[in-house]
Amino acid sequence: MQASEITTWVDDARAAFLKATDLDSLKTARLAHSGDKSPIALASRGLGALSAEDKASFGKLIGEAKAAVADALAVATNLLEAERDRKVLLEEVVDITLPVNRAHRGGLHPISIIKNEVSDFFIEQGFAVEEGPELESGWLNFDALNIPADHPARTMQDTFFIEPIESGMVLRTHTSPVQIRTMLTQTPPIYVICPGRTFRADELDATHSPVFHQVEGLVIDKGITMAHLKGTLDNFARHMFGPNVTTRLRPSFFPFTEPSAEVDIFFNNRWIEWGGCGMVNPKVLATCGIDTDQYSGFAFGMGLERTLMVRHGITDMHDIVEGDLRFTRQFGVGL
Ligand code: DAH
Repeated sequence: MQASEITTWVDDARAAFLKATDLDSLKTARLAHSGDKSPIALASRGLGALSAEDKASFGKLIGEAKAAVADALAVATNLLEAERDRKVLLEEVVDITLPVNRAHRGGLHPISIIKNEVSDFFIEQGFAVEEGPELESGWLNFDALNIPADHPARTMQDTFFIEPIESGMVLRTHTSPVQIRTMLTQTPPIYVICPGRTFRADELDATHSPVFHQVEGLVIDKGITMAHLKGTLDNFARHMFGPNVTTRLRPSFFPFTEPSAEVDIFFNNRWIEWGGCGMVNPKVLATCGIDTDQYSGFAFGMGLERTLMVRHGITDMHDIVEGDLRFTRQFGVGL
């Protein structure tokens, strides 16, 4: 090994690095001139075989040579990386002034958003969500709920009957038949809510729609009292209308609950009727084969359109029904 040889290796390495035109060719040059099999590396490994004196002097030279090659490599790497970055910026430039075809993201209707909100609230408390068919048997929609044949709700004006009339089928006028379906197929304890579409032969106007939505709640367990109903409605109301809302129960009548009440909320400085509720009528429990000595329960039902209208100060049902995106977008996409 000669000192001049070492200088040549360093010169060769520098020349090769300078000649590299991109990072790939620099890599090839690096492997050849400072990789494991490069002359400098081989010489470095051969030092052990030299006399102590040569080892010291050549060791120093080789150490300096390695440092010089590493410096040259760093300079070339920096240059070529800067070059690559400049190219990438030029080639991948995005002209943000170009016109675009912007497709709007789909979103949920406000009624779906509020339905999910209600479901999430009750699911968190261990309730299950039950759904029943929109085309329902008259027995489940009325009779099993203790609504007698001569009840006004059954007349032609309110109910969409399905032909042939003898089929006994109706478009469900409320979500209460899902209570019956649940009690017939499950054994207590039962904690469910039943959101869904409901139908009544009403004209579409500012406060009515022939197709609307309700959510039903049903709890059957041992020792259930009206206090549980009130507490559940209080929490539900606060979740929907804010922490300051209060509720009040006003005596009322529903065939399927005894006693029955209307639930009102005090919201925006006035009492507003929100829905119906009560203790499930023992007659209804018995129809569903539930032991009334052991179990009692409460139920409630409210309109989702009404809930949305009250909460957001919507004064016209048409806005909810017609699907004008300018209305819908105000509620966010809710995905
Ligand atoms: N089903 C009633 C309606 O459509 C609402 C209702 C009232 C549901 C009282 C209930 C209840 O579960 O207990 O008007």
